[in-house]
Amino acid sequence: MLQLYNWSRFPWYRQSVPVELIPLPLSVSERQGSFLLGPTTVIVATGPALASAWLLHDVLHTATGHAMPVVPDAAGAPAITVLVDGETTDAFPSTAAERYHLAINEDHVTIHAAQPAGATRAVQTVRQLLPADALRAAPVLTEPVTLPCLTIDDEPRFAWRGLMLDVARHFQPKEFLLRLIDLAALHRLNVLHLHLTDDQGWRLEVPSWPKLTQIGAWRSETVLGHARDQLGFDGTPHGGYYTIADLKEVVAYARARHITVVPEVDLPGHVRSALAAYPELGNTGTTQPVATTFGVFEQILAPTDEALRFARDVFDVVVDIFDSPFIHIGGDECPRTEWQQSAAARARADELGLPGVEFLQSWFTAQFAQHLRQHGRRVIGWDEILDGGAPDDAVISVWREFGIAAKALAAGHDVIVAPQEAVYLDFYASPGPAEPLHIHGNLPLETIAEFDPVPASPDDRTDGAGHRAPGAVLGVQAQLWTEYLPTPREVEYAAFPRLAAVAEMAWASMDNRRAQPVTERLTTHLTRLDALGVNYRPPAGPHPWQSGGTGARARFDHR
Ligand code: ACM
Repeated sequence: MLQLYNWSRFPWYRQSVPVELIPLPLSVSERQGSFLLGPTTVIVATGPALASAWLLHDVLHTATGHAMPVVPDAAGAPAITVLVDGETTDAFPSTAAERYHLAINEDHVTIHAAQPAGATRAVQTVRQLLPADALRAAPVLTEPVTLPCLTIDDEPRFAWRGLMLDVARHFQPKEFLLRLIDLAALHRLNVLHLHLTDDQGWRLEVPSWPKLTQIGAWRSETVLGHARDQLGFDGTPHGGYYTIADLKEVVAYARARHITVVPEVDLPGHVRSALAAYPELGNTGTTQPVATTFGVFEQILAPTDEALRFARDVFDVVVDIFDSPFIHIGGDECPRTEWQQSAAARARADELGLPGVEFLQSWFTAQFAQHLRQHGRRVIGWDEILDGGAPDDAVISVWREFGIAAKALAAGHDVIVAPQEAVYLDFYASPGPAEPLHIHGNLPLETIAEFDPVPASPDDRTDGAGHRAPGAVLGVQAQLWTEYLPTPREVEYAAFPRLAAVAEMAWASMDNRRAQPVTERLTTHLTRLDALGVNYRPPAGPHPWQSGGTGARARFDHR
């Protein structure tokens, strides 16, 4: 009754938006024709479909300027029906929870998912089926906006599809975390791992340990250029932290998009910021400032009851803020020098019946895991926590090299594949001289595009370690360490478009990836990133005026 014209019969506005989605869905079958997103279109949803329907409403209202009301019944209007069978039954991480069916016909669109997460992923696919300019923050398209007729059946390869952002080396504004969640959602990623603490800054408010943010969140200055070049310091204070309310907001924003925010508190190494605030937690009794340069420092937690009390207090705040079933305890790059030199640490190792001080990290990990287990959470640690033995239920973030994944799996641990050679987006994107300052390495998008994150023989029981069933590859995660990425613009430049290739690695099957390489869909995808104002690195390489030198930081803008 409300539909005055069947607009789709008018060929003059049929846009040819290429169906070039990133990540690639499991199956797509395209048909002739399109569905008009017109002034009378409604979104039909009830019950567990409502939250996804409102997300879709926001997307389509912004794209078209039309009201796109969410209603319980179409009453004859052209409709997008969002059907969700029930509330969430498969807790994260679960690929089944994210399965969806999307059918676009000339007169009707249906999104159907068993669980809300699946419908939310479908909304993101719909976003990519719109003309790129529909992704702008307000409607700019003058021609009618349509969706191409097709059917998509989709489910991710991996249940964990993550992005880690280091907010410790350079504090990143809360607004940028929200933007990154939106950008992650567009790529159907489902984890934002926040590296909240490190030698150069403590970013998490902990009311019972106030000096962590009064002192530990601030440093007096930052090394110029690359730390290894010893070019001096910038003389400019740097810092910042998130309040508990800020982080609860970030978690809720992510949750509405079915993205889990996984917090990391890096212990027992990488704690210079905590020790600047509370030197009594260290091994030497001396006070050192928050670190102003980058690398691995010898200052680590002392193996004392006080240090354990500190960690438990921090984790109690963490579990109050974050609903993630997994809590990351760091555990990387923890030199044993101070423990070796400390009579108290050696005595503690003896008292605990450990063969040597090098096992104190393993003891710390076990204590953290036990405490978090009482809160119903599982620990994740960087792969160094395997040294000396990790608790059976600990998940391993494999970062030093991919080969460690097979060993961790064989030892029965679940694994997140995050190796530097494949998914460290803080690495250089090419060996070319015009790349702006990055940490080191060379990780072109093409390398990411070809990488298969499942070890060839995950159940190969190397080292005789396998005394229980092999673990599972939960998924894949990109890392953005920010030593040399001081602001959101630099972070975006390092992240994009390589993150699109990581998202594809995490979502799409190897067969689909080989048949339709992500590189062939990149040009279309960049128009979306342009509309969203993402400061991506041009695939052809940086502009020649960008300095790859070691002096003052280059500004790097892609336009
Ligand atoms: C790491 O890159 N240190 C986990």
